[in-house]
Amino acid sequence: MRDGDASGFSAVLLDWYDRHARAMPWRVPPEEKKAGVKPDPYRVWLSEVMLQQTTVAAVRDYFRRFTDRWPTVGDLAAAADSEVMGEWAGLGYYARARNLLACARAVVRDHGGVFPVTREGLLTLPGIGPYTASAIAAIAHDEAATVVDGNVERVMARLWLVEEPLPGAKAALTRLAERLTPVNRPGDYAQAVMDLGATICTPRNPACGICPWRDPCRARAEGVQAGLPRKTEKAAKPVRQGVIWIARRRDGAWLVERRAERGLLGGMLGFPGSDWDGGGGEEPVAADWQELGEVRHTFTHFHLILRCRVARVEMGAEPSRGQFLPVAEFRPSDLPTVMRKAFDLTKNAFSPS
Ligand code: ADE
Repeated sequence: MRDGDASGFSAVLLDWYDRHARAMPWRVPPEEKKAGVKPDPYRVWLSEVMLQQTTVAAVRDYFRRFTDRWPTVGDLAAAADSEVMGEWAGLGYYARARNLLACARAVVRDHGGVFPVTREGLLTLPGIGPYTASAIAAIAHDEAATVVDGNVERVMARLWLVEEPLPGAKAALTRLAERLTPVNRPGDYAQAVMDLGATICTPRNPACGICPWRDPCRARAEGVQAGLPRKTEKAAKPVRQGVIWIARRRDGAWLVERRAERGLLGGMLGFPGSDWDGGGGEEPVAADWQELGEVRHTFTHFHLILRCRVARVEMGAEPSRGQFLPVAEFRPSDLPTVMRKAFDLTKNAFSPS
């Protein structure tokens, strides 16, 4: 296998994938693919959106619940926003769930319920960017599109000994990945590189001894693989602070509020709170508020510390924000993780009275 021999590289990797492909609920294994089984674009799309910023292990159960409840894109398009946001709760990056619904509805409205088959067509859909369009085009339709995620960047940086740090090196790594993308089985190839990055060419302690690309790997030849890819040091995340109020009525109902569509945790259920700017905010209902403690949560660009206050309120209480949700309709699993942490703090706060 020489540098210019792209088909040699892909042949070796595809042979490895035939023996070691990870089993995933959305994946058609290589032997079935060869027997003519076609991947369902809906399942490929759903899994790829879920897998952005999230690990395979975290996604499996969400994927199963979504596809049990909404087996086709038409079923998902017809679902209520709040139901979908509730099922997504805990996965994070909630704009993905809002875009997911917008995309499902666009597929039904503008494409007769069938996903476009080309990368270019897929790019016209809401929430489908270059990565997702390439992944669906390659995996579902065997278009020779190049799929570049963090795993692929790491594999390319090592294979070709790219010393320029990320994110500056992204364009160069993408070009290198493009050079290796084969016309033969591009969908399996895309998944093979990602599997290689996830299982062998791992960030720490890569298992070079069993890697199908160990011989041509330039970083391994130099013994520098563990230090690649380099990364430009990130600025420390700022800390933001706020207050939330968790009220329960005498009948057990919880005071909750659906967050505005736009912005962080947009469209998700939560407890009323102050802005996250360190100010005190205004109580949503008059009550004898008690300090409960604080929760900490880290978002992409900042750390958040929320002070939690709790109160029991009387039946006639009229909140200035949010609404009381009867206990039978309140599902903690509908809450995004930061609100779920606050809910967990209240476990002993509302003893029967
Ligand atoms: N990560 C994201 N999508 C993936 C896929 N289809 N196979 C393996 N890892 C992935």
